[in-house]
Formats: sequence, structure tokens, C-alpha cells
Amino acid sequence: MEAPYQGVILGISFNHTIVFAKDRQESAWFFTTYFGLPDPVQAGPFLAVQLEHGATLDFAQLDGEVFPQHYAFLVSEADFDAIYGRIVAAGLEHWPDPHSGRSGTINHNDGGRGVYFNDPSGHRLEIITVPYGGWPQDRSVH
Ligand SMILES: [Fe+2]
Repeated sequence: MEAPYQGVILGISFNHTIVFAKDRQESAWFFTTYFGLPDPVQAGPFLAVQLEHGATLDFAQLDGEVFPQHYAFLVSEADFDAIYGRIVAAGLEHWPDPHSGRSGTINHNDGGRGVYFNDPSGHRLEIITVPYGGWPQDRSVH
């Protein structure tokens, strides 16, 4: 079944989410360090990390068990090189698939590159250079 709005710009973009952390300082700095982003900014009770298109990840302290979530990021080939380079240089464990097999390697799904690694709270982060299923024919949906 074809999506009813395929190829149409919907005007809806992701803006922010709260990322719970055992130590919000550690997690926010982990993220900006590996992703090569500007320093986290205090925003109320959160440490906000700025992404593309005005979106932020708002790191929040959680006193209690953090239930691991999955956060995936589409990055350029150059950014993948930089981020993956930091992962390897730090000896950070990483996997080519979400089931933690074949530690120390990346995937080439959809003709791109991808890798999974954990943040300090156990969230499973993923970087990919090509969206799942490949680039859409009509790039205007981005
Ligand atoms: Fe994913």
C-alpha cells in the first residue's frame, strides 16, 4: 500500500526529546564528544545538545534505572569517518547490528555504512550514512 503523502513535504519535523541518563553531564558530553558537536547547553533541568534542523536532545538526570532506548542518526560520509574514528581510537565497543554480534565491525546496509554503540546510560546509538531502505526517489520528503 502506497503512503498517501509520498513525495509531499509535510511540514512536520522532529524538534526535541528527553534522553534520560544516569549522569546527564557524562551522557551529554559523551554525545557531543563522539559526534563532534557544540558543547551541551543548560536548558532548565536539561542539558541540551543541538542537532540539525533545530532539533535537540535534552539530557535529563534520572535517579533510578534508565530503560535503554534506541537513537539513530543519519550522518554524512565525512561525519561517519570522524565519529567512527573516535569510537575506534577510544576502544569503544561497537557492532554492525542491533543484536551485538560481530563486535568491532560496521555494516554496509543499503549501500552505506552503519554502526551501533552504547552511551554511558546503555542507550543504543546508531549512525548510518544511508537511510533504511536507501535514499527515496524524491528527496523533497527530507
Ligand atoms: Fe535503528
